[in-house]
Amino acid sequence: MNIQATLSLVLILYFANHIIASDKDVQQYLDEQEKINNFPIKHLGYQQIVDTFYQLEKEYPHYIKVYDAVQQFNNETLPKAYCSENQSPQDLCKFIYAVITNYSDPKHVNFTQSFFSGNFHGDEVVGPNVLTYMAKYILEKPDLNILSKSFIVILPMSNPQGYSNNNREECSLKNGKYNCIDINRDFPYDTSERECFQSVGARIINFIWKKYLFTAAITFHGGMTAIGWPWGSTNHMISRSKGEISPDQNAFYTLGKRMSEIGGQYPNIPKYGYDILNDIVYPVKGSFEDWSYAASWERQIDPSFSSFFPKCQGISEEELYISESTARSLTYLIETTDLKSPGEHTYGTWQQIQRNDKGQGHVTRNIRLTLDFINNLSPSYEVATHKSANYTFYVKWAAEGCHQVSNTKLLVRESDLQSNTANNTYYSLQQLLDDGFKIYQEYTDYQGKVKDITSFKSQIIEFDDPRDRVIDIAIFSECDSFLTEKNSYAKPTIEPQSHFVRSRSNDSYIAENNGFFINSNKYIIKSLGPFQVSNYSLYTEPGTNQTDTSQSKNDYDYLIALFSIITVGALISYCIYKKFDSLGANNISFQELHNEDHQLQQLPKSQQQQQQQNQQKKVYNRDGGVNQYQLSQEEDGL
Ligand SMILES: *[C@@H]1O[C@H](CO)[C@@H](O)[C@H](O)[C@H]1NC(C)=O
Ligand SMILES: *[C@@H]1O[C@H](CO)[C@@H](O)[C@H](O)[C@H]1NC(C)=O
Ligand SMILES: *[C@@H]1O[C@H](CO)[C@@H](O)[C@H](O)[C@H]1NC(C)=O
Ligand SMILES: *[C@@H]1O[C@H](CO)[C@@H](O)[C@H](O)[C@H]1NC(C)=O
Ligand SMILES: *[C@@H]1O[C@H](CO)[C@@H](O)[C@H](O)[C@H]1NC(C)=O
Ligand SMILES: *[C@@H]1O[C@H](CO)[C@@H](O)[C@H](O)[C@H]1NC(C)=O
Ligand SMILES: *[C@@H]1O[C@H](CO)[C@@H](O)[C@H](O)[C@H]1NC(C)=O
Ligand SMILES: *[C@@H]1O[C@H](CO)[C@@H](O)[C@H](O)[C@H]1NC(C)=O
Ligand SMILES: [Zn+2]
Repeated sequence: MNIQATLSLVLILYFANHIIASDKDVQQYLDEQEKINNFPIKHLGYQQIVDTFYQLEKEYPHYIKVYDAVQQFNNETLPKAYCSENQSPQDLCKFIYAVITNYSDPKHVNFTQSFFSGNFHGDEVVGPNVLTYMAKYILEKPDLNILSKSFIVILPMSNPQGYSNNNREECSLKNGKYNCIDINRDFPYDTSERECFQSVGARIINFIWKKYLFTAAITFHGGMTAIGWPWGSTNHMISRSKGEISPDQNAFYTLGKRMSEIGGQYPNIPKYGYDILNDIVYPVKGSFEDWSYAASWERQIDPSFSSFFPKCQGISEEELYISESTARSLTYLIETTDLKSPGEHTYGTWQQIQRNDKGQGHVTRNIRLTLDFINNLSPSYEVATHKSANYTFYVKWAAEGCHQVSNTKLLVRESDLQSNTANNTYYSLQQLLDDGFKIYQEYTDYQGKVKDITSFKSQIIEFDDPRDRVIDIAIFSECDSFLTEKNSYAKPTIEPQSHFVRSRSNDSYIAENNGFFINSNKYIIKSLGPFQVSNYSLYTEPGTNQTDTSQSKNDYDYLIALFSIITVGALISYCIYKKFDSLGANNISFQELHNEDHQLQQLPKSQQQQQQQNQQKKVYNRDGGVNQYQLSQEEDGL
């Protein structure tokens, strides 16, 4: 594929276009892009995936590092999984994983870390393709804004042996004996000592999880169409078909619903249903989802839970040990497709990643929703400024990654000095005030929705004394405080436990592992400056007094470019372009939160319809009359 060169060119054109964009230019750009990007996504086999990642590492050494986890882990007790007929050392399956971030930025150790698993079940083939193409996409479009704030760990094939042989379980040799193990029943949670960490895949994942510090994760499967989250284990059932909700239900629900929306639908591709795994899929023992979400805290809450965290036969204390911060992830399981191997003609085309009006593909829509998910883990502001005549200064901004902002303040610091520069790193309102900022305007009633442009009207800072000056501006909001409320239906009935919610509720939150940090996200703060605000004559044509903001769009164009790169879809960008194009004159309408978002305190009664639809599949997959509490590993599970 000689796509890369073409894409880079498109990128350049794209940028060139956006900086001087008019409506016509944008339309033309979209048309050209359509011609170039309308090529189908091809299925990648085991070796192609390995090769693609090493190739990407060669091309983008500052943004991706690729490792073979088996080599790195280097433990002689690991079973041996082979990816070819031969069983020599070089035929061992490569458990490659990739870290994608901006290694040139020293702050990358504090970027939000998320983990993505391609497939625990070898015959569920969508996930590995989603993650391989996603890596390529992120690296070829460094302006997506993902590299500047995210730290992504991708394990494209969690079961390379199964993927290369098209079998569900991981089959490997241990002490001369051949064993096949379901990796997603192999984690030390709600299972027995003989049934955990027996697979290479699960031990590798444990190794990776102890090395990094994940805020969130997605694990891809196939066999039905659903997005699920903990609880998904037999110890959290209420009745035969109803499970308990976790202390982080509000956050799980909010992000899960968002993923379903971004995933979209198409005649043959249904919208994703979303709910707790116990309700929407079925409970299993030893799942990665519940382990990665709860293993760091559930046992401490109630020692009677300890039976759910067994020791694992043949595994040392040291290998089993996880810290307070290892396993507090918002982990989602995505059942991508009713067919485990839906055929590459359903994967989609490259352009559908950006545009959801061009049809949907199983691979492309999952790339789109995953990129959006990653972006929303790290709240940030995008700000545009515009100097204008008559001692005024325009500011407009949008929050990204907060599902709701509150308590917003616009602050200004004014001085006569050119050297007046705001620090880049404020963590609280008090710091801004201490540093000389004054609250210019406060907003109590504006709420926004994540990235549907949590936007604020063109705010005008007006000075009434006619003199030149230098100003810094800062914007402050609280982010997602509604997610942090305790859910009285949760089991156990305690405060949210995930890093995601704790970092949004505690302004001094710090979690640490191995040199990586999660810092508080309770507030989003952005400071900008310095800007010189000069008097009238500087900004108007001699002889006229007209203040025509729509003519002097340079700063807005900057915003337009920004928005084009932070949104995943060109279509979305286009709409935003239109919106911001008229910003100078018009107000933006505010997207109020849907009422249902405020009802999160109740038990999840999400989508009766979807549940009914899924119920049928569930019954089928549940193997008839098997008692849920003692589910055996289904041969044809999901
Ligand atoms: C990362 O966060 C920690 C904890 O807040 C802080 O001490 C450290 O300076 C940060 N590192 C970088 C490079 O910003
Ligand atoms: C990566 O970080 C470097 C250093 O901070 C910066 O110059 C560069 O623009 C960043 N690249 C991206 C894609 O964010
Ligand atoms: C390999 O794993 C086993 C089982 O957990 C452990 O006892 C042993 O110390 C490990 N060896 C190395 C070199 O880490
Ligand atoms: C901002 O930077 C200046 C100059 O380095 C320093 O004096 C001041 O204390 C800093 N303020 C904050 C809030 O960090
Ligand atoms: C700026 O212009 C507006 C409208 O022309 C006027 O009402 C206002 O007094 C002016 N402000 C200053 C500081 O001159
Ligand atoms: C306005 O700007 C002009 C040109 O820079 C300067 O000569 C003049 O003194 C300024 N007037 C005031 C009131 O600052
Ligand atoms: C906030 O986080 C800090 C550091 O992680 C912790 O020590 C403190 O107990 C937390 N506060 C609350 C109220 O949870
Ligand atoms: C422009 O505005 C200034 C100050 O308000 C005024 O003195 C002047 O007459 C105006 N000029 C024109 C051409 O309207
Ligand atoms: Zn599966």
